[in-house]
Amino acid sequence: LPVLSVASECFPLVKTGGLADVVGALPLALASESVGVRTLLPGYPAVLGRLQGAEAVHGFDELFGGPARVLAARHAGLDLLVLDAPHLYDRPGGPYADSQGRDWPDNPQRFAALSWVAAAIGRGALPDWAPAVVHGHDWQAGLTAAYLRYGGSPRPGTVFTVHNLAFQGWAPAYLLNTLRLPPAAFDIEGVEFFGGIGALKAGLRLADRITTVSPTYAREIATPEEGMGLDGLIRARARAMHGILNGIDEAAWNPAADPHLPAPFDAARPEGREASRTGLRTRMGLEDDPGALVLGVVSRLTGQKGMDLLLACLPALLGHGMRLAVLGAGEPALEAGFRAAAAAHPGRVAVRIGYDEGLAHLIQAGCDALLVPSRFEPCGLTQLCALRYGALPVVARVGGLADTVIDANEAALASGVGTGLQFAPTTAAALEGGLARLASLWADQDAWKTVQANAMRAPVGWERSAARYAGIYRGLI
Ligand code: ADP
Ligand code: GLC
Repeated sequence: LPVLSVASECFPLVKTGGLADVVGALPLALASESVGVRTLLPGYPAVLGRLQGAEAVHGFDELFGGPARVLAARHAGLDLLVLDAPHLYDRPGGPYADSQGRDWPDNPQRFAALSWVAAAIGRGALPDWAPAVVHGHDWQAGLTAAYLRYGGSPRPGTVFTVHNLAFQGWAPAYLLNTLRLPPAAFDIEGVEFFGGIGALKAGLRLADRITTVSPTYAREIATPEEGMGLDGLIRARARAMHGILNGIDEAAWNPAADPHLPAPFDAARPEGREASRTGLRTRMGLEDDPGALVLGVVSRLTGQKGMDLLLACLPALLGHGMRLAVLGAGEPALEAGFRAAAAAHPGRVAVRIGYDEGLAHLIQAGCDALLVPSRFEPCGLTQLCALRYGALPVVARVGGLADTVIDANEAALASGVGTGLQFAPTTAAALEGGLARLASLWADQDAWKTVQANAMRAPVGWERSAARYAGIYRGLI
């Protein structure tokens, strides 16, 4: 079954968050379901620079303001189609913003172009391959479903996945023509959203099937509290909506064979973790106290992730004798807050601002518990990595966090099924309560080891979810 996946990022070529992990891992998992995925990505310099033996398979004399071509190449087991359009993507900075963090003003055109090309490929633009289903991810691919819907039939089936409802890809109405949308599309049943053009809304309204990345998030976004203005539409499309949990790439996140770790370990040989605990303390400059619980954070430093609450709970955390190791980047005020905390508590709070794949792995392997105090979390991947690496996840009971961590309460401990701790609501007081529970569990090392062993054996891969995506694709043909 041929499927075209369309996204603005893809691990290991370009990544700002979990979207890239999912877009990079799902095709590999779908191969065992007899689904052949090709992935269409923008040709950012970072992507083009890593392609080897790319071959041009299609050209456009003019695509949203300049010439463009589609390159085909294989990379890291992925079958890629890369949209080489220098006027849209050949710039320094990140995928969405310049090096100062300012969004590119032509982002509507940049990602409309990606979606337009996805639709063209969906209608058979490539000489020897056409997808039966086109699967778009997040607002950057949201208009794909619109171009296919308003372009007449026949057309392939369409699937749209929401990874984060907070990023909606809104553009002013006067761009309708520039974005090559017909006047008929400017309708509540089409792309119109709050007087403008909503790319995320278009995907949600117009795709044949819509999915999001956990069952709990699927329920949450159907409510006015969590629906970010789209809950009415999401309720109206309840029968087309599926909540499917993300997995992690178990080859990339395998503590038994992880080049970033000083020694291998796994559920059968958890002792090997100790070398990573020591390695983490040394690398981050934490006091050499093997008895002190080290909390880890690997996160975007944003309000979504509840990082302000963590700063507020620092006195309580230190009061329990815990240490904190933070890796992240994001909002300037939060970066400054964490830098100040590290300066105020040397040896007890260690902070690295930036993106560091290797250190992310070492934190997962070397911390005792990983903190994820999100206000909302569509799925979350770091808690899945933590489970596999034996760091107990301490998570807010929202979205995919609620679906993937089993709270080690009395009942769970008695039946031997807990894998971490949950707290609710997402407030500083509840987080402090979670830290107090964590301190008691740490004090009972036998119970701790049982929960850790459960965590390391919890299923975190793609198998079940890949089968569900394959089922959705098959249902469309
Ligand atoms: P989100 O996509 O909302 O940021 P996820 O938990 O789904 O959250 O995915 C985050 C991904 O990004 C994980 O793979 C995590 O390891 C990685 N990550 C986040 N921050 C950093 C960082 N500073 N350095 C390295 N990896 C990071
Ligand atoms: C988004 C969400 C995160 C999810 C990821 C991959 O970035 O914030 O919760 O895990 O997408 O689906």
